[in-house]
This record gives sequence, structure tokens and C-alpha cells, in this order.
Amino acid sequence: MEPFNLDDDTLLAAHDPSDMLGAIYGLPEQMEEAVRLMEHTGAKFDASLVQTIVVTGLGGSAVGGDMLRTYAGDKCPVPILVNRSYTLPSYVGKDTLVIAVSYSGNTEETLSAYADAKARGAQIVAVTSGGILKKQAWEDGHAVITVPGGLQPRAAAGYLFIPQLMLLQQAGLLPEGHAEIEETVRLLREMRKLLAPASPTEQNLAKQTALRLYGKIPLIHGAVGLTEVIAYRWKTQINENAQTPAFAHCYPELNHNEIVGFDVPQELIEKLEIITLTCSRNHPRVQKRIEITAGEVLAAASCGQTELAALGESDLAQMFSLLYLGDYASAYLAALYGLDPTPVEKIEYLKRRLAD
Ligand code: PA5
Repeated sequence: MEPFNLDDDTLLAAHDPSDMLGAIYGLPEQMEEAVRLMEHTGAKFDASLVQTIVVTGLGGSAVGGDMLRTYAGDKCPVPILVNRSYTLPSYVGKDTLVIAVSYSGNTEETLSAYADAKARGAQIVAVTSGGILKKQAWEDGHAVITVPGGLQPRAAAGYLFIPQLMLLQQAGLLPEGHAEIEETVRLLREMRKLLAPASPTEQNLAKQTALRLYGKIPLIHGAVGLTEVIAYRWKTQINENAQTPAFAHCYPELNHNEIVGFDVPQELIEKLEIITLTCSRNHPRVQKRIEITAGEVLAAASCGQTELAALGESDLAQMFSLLYLGDYASAYLAALYGLDPTPVEKIEYLKRRLAD
């Protein structure tokens, strides 16, 4: 099948904010709206009691927790864990802050983990657009941060991440970070001038990246710290938006296993396209590992390789710059395959079957 022309007029047409390209375009405004929401929301908990933080959620609602965990790694005095299960780890108790995140408010694993948190007397904050989670948390007297609905959960990264970040900032568990958020919003607005559908392929890195990934199996490499979870975000966005297999791994761990596996079978290795996400915050030894791996160890491998660097100064801007590029690239990859990036019928089917 011939790939769709990414500079075709139908892609250039105005996008509704609820479709995937429209939602991606609107991420900076979404972040600003989430800031305003948090400035007027009194979602409070007793920070002096908090010894651990657990964010519980799945899929598009877990990514904000992943980003919070990695962003806060060198800033927050207490550990943050992201839980993707029906139950919580055994250490969760009264001294744990549990942030239950479900965009729909109806995800069964998250509702079950919420009930577990409640049974153990944890401090709870719910982040949701509605559904059962909102109703239960209200009835139980827990704090609820209600974000606007109408999007796919994975397209609501701003609505789901900013409240968690600001919740911890407002409680003094993270340093004040208004300037970082402002830098991030400004950067994403600049980036979209070149990444949005109206920007032609020759100057559009997201379209160019989608073309590199077309007909290939994407393998996204990040590094411990800021880019690990963004590599995973790329993988899941490619899965859900472009409906194609994709995999992710991270440095330095991949240096201890995955790099051995690029010899056979040749016909499959040729189908791989490695995208390595880098940022200026990488540990210098990790950066050296990336250079040696890409330039020497995998130089003779028959797969493709591309390195993409984060933009911006702050940790937040660097994370979101790579997330934004990946979101656009995955939506363009869908377009190349002639697919609509918005619906996720298999996920919905599974949820319906489980509810029978
Ligand atoms: O992208 C998706 O639609 C999924 O990954 C959902 O986010 C996931 O199934 C959880 O649903 P929710 O985000 O509504 O809790």
C-alpha cells in the first residue's frame, strides 16, 4: 500500500480539539488550563504525615504518574511509586498519599486500588473527569480534582500531569515550579509551529520521524532519569495511535542485555528502527554509553538508527518536548497507514467484555 501523503490537504484541515491531532495541538493550552484549575482547587492533604506517595492508574492515566516519579526523583523527599494493579503494595497505610488517576473514572483496576487505599486509611486524592471514581471519592470525603472530559485519556496528558505536579508543589513536597511550567508551555507553542499538520515535511521533524518509522517496527530507547518514561510513552502512543507494534527499553540497562540481540534473524533486524531519545540531563557515563552503542556496537546492525534530542532548559521542558514530538510522530504514522489515530476499539471491547 502506498503511504498517505502527509502534506495532503485533508491533514491540513482544521482539527476538532477532541480528535487526536487537534488534542495534540492543544496541549499547551491544556497545561495552562490545568494550572488555572489547580490555582482554584483546594485539594488538600496533610503533607506532614506523608512518608510515601503512590500514584495508581493505568494506560493513559498512568503516564502522568510515571512523569511525576521521574521528574521528582531528585527533588522529592519521599519515594513515589506508580502502581498499575488492582491492589496496593503492603507498605501503603495512613502515612501514604495515594493519588488515584483515571480519566474516565471507570477503570476497574484503579477503582479496586482506590478501595484498597480507603480500607488502609491512606490519604487519597482522586484525579478524574468523572465516572465512579469521582462519585465514590466525593461520597467518601476525599479530595477530587475534576479535569475537563471529552478526550482520549492519552490525549489528556496535560490535564492529568499538571494537577499531580502542582499538588505536590502546593504541599511543599516539590519545589515551586511555575517558571518551568511557563517555559514548557512556551516551548510547546514554538514547537508546534514546525510540528503541526500545516508545516510541510521538509521542515517537520515529526513527519520525517513518522516516515522513518513507516513499514518498520519502532524500538524506542530512553535513559534512566527523564527520558525512560518518555520512550515508553512513545511506544504506547505508537501502539494506540498508529495501531502498530513498538517496543521500548532504556540505558544503561539495555547495555547489559538487548545490545547482544541484533544479529539474527537478519530479515527481522532490518525491520527495526531504533529511535534514541537524549537529553542534557543524562548522566555523563550514560551519554558516553549511548555514543559507543550507536556509533560502534550497533553500527553494523542492519536496523535503522536515529537520535532525537530534547529541547528546552528545565527538566519539565525537556521531558515534554520529547513527548510532544512523539505524540505528533505517532499520529502522522497513523496517517501514513491510512488510519484514524483516535479510536482504540480493542481496549473498549476488552473493557465491555470484562463488564459482562
Ligand atoms: O489510552 C487509553 O485509552 C487507555 O490506556 C486508558 O487510559 C486506560 O484503559 C485507563 O482508562 P482511564 O484512563 O479512563 O482510567
